Amino acid sequence: MKILSIESSCDETSAAVTCGREVLSNIISTQIDEHRIYGGVVPEIASRRHCENIAAVVNEAISTAGVTYDDIDAVAVTAYPGLIGALLTGVNFAKGLSLSLSKPLIAVHHLRGHIAANYLTHKELKPPFLCLVVSGGNTVICSVKDYTDFSVIGQTLDDAAGECFDKCARAMGLPYPGGVNLDKVAAGSDESLFPLPTPKSGGGEYDFSFSGLKTAVLNLIHNKKQKGEDIDIPALCGTLRKKVCDILISKTISAAKENGFKKIVLAGGVSANSELRERMKNECEKQGFSFFTPELKYCGDNAAMIGAQAYYEFMAGNIADLSLNASATKDITNTD
Ligand code: KG4
Repeated sequence: MKILSIESSCDETSAAVTCGREVLSNIISTQIDEHRIYGGVVPEIASRRHCENIAAVVNEAISTAGVTYDDIDAVAVTAYPGLIGALLTGVNFAKGLSLSLSKPLIAVHHLRGHIAANYLTHKELKPPFLCLVVSGGNTVICSVKDYTDFSVIGQTLDDAAGECFDKCARAMGLPYPGGVNLDKVAAGSDESLFPLPTPKSGGGEYDFSFSGLKTAVLNLIHNKKQKGEDIDIPALCGTLRKKVCDILISKTISAAKENGFKKIVLAGGVSANSELRERMKNECEKQGFSFFTPELKYCGDNAAMIGAQAYYEFMAGNIADLSLNASATKDITNTD
């Protein structure tokens, strides 16, 4: 079954053709250069660029896959969560395609797509497993009971881990996207130079809170600047990265133990973080868990991961109709 999928939830316009877990094409047109001058994604600009680029990106996905529109069996699209104007561009384009091709339309939850990125890399991976999804807008530990059956074990009560990285990186003067550059600058640094607090979430045992950590880093930078003191930026990046990884890894391992999982899966844009990948893998090996994370090319936003999840949504009978609307927020458990 060949699925043409579209992803436009943030600053990447992407289209892919997938066949189950096989990727026939995965075209990504990134807007990073344009948003960099503002230090972050400008939603209005993102929507306009999606609008301009989407037809060309979809056509390229079809031609790179070596297929025609007639060969496509279904059209899938990220419908939620994300930037609303950006999502609407993809959703409306997908609805038009579905209508004109007379093919089923499949709405995909963006975080389910990030989890499904693992199916592209690990052909043998099957639920049940525990998954930590860490991205720019979300940090969630969820139980993946089946391909379309999810429950939330813990989540951030304020900022996502990626947002914490991005905002701190910006305050340190690193270019957008901050998380990626913070990871690079942190390489080989002293990770214990700054006394950063371990935040308490105040929620459930597996909930997260990153806003206090972000504020601590911002205050530290402002204080040092006011006093005219130099800041060891690589060490601050390294200390923050270590602290965030400590929190993510310890909560994930505890949640997997308490809920009786044997497999731990890491997903989302922040799963590209070198320290997180390495340390989570080592910890899983030490504690007897099987560990899975996507190849780097599938960690960030891309349409192939949406196609991978769309296949399982289709098999579960989750077909959308032309009244489909985008939504800026949506729980991973709920796609109604
Ligand atoms: O999943 P994603 O591409 O978009 C969302 O769905 O949010 O994630 C983007 C996030 C950004 O916060 C970016 O800074 C972060 O992932 N990120 C990283 C790394 N690569 C991307 N954070 C830390 N280390 C990285 N290597």
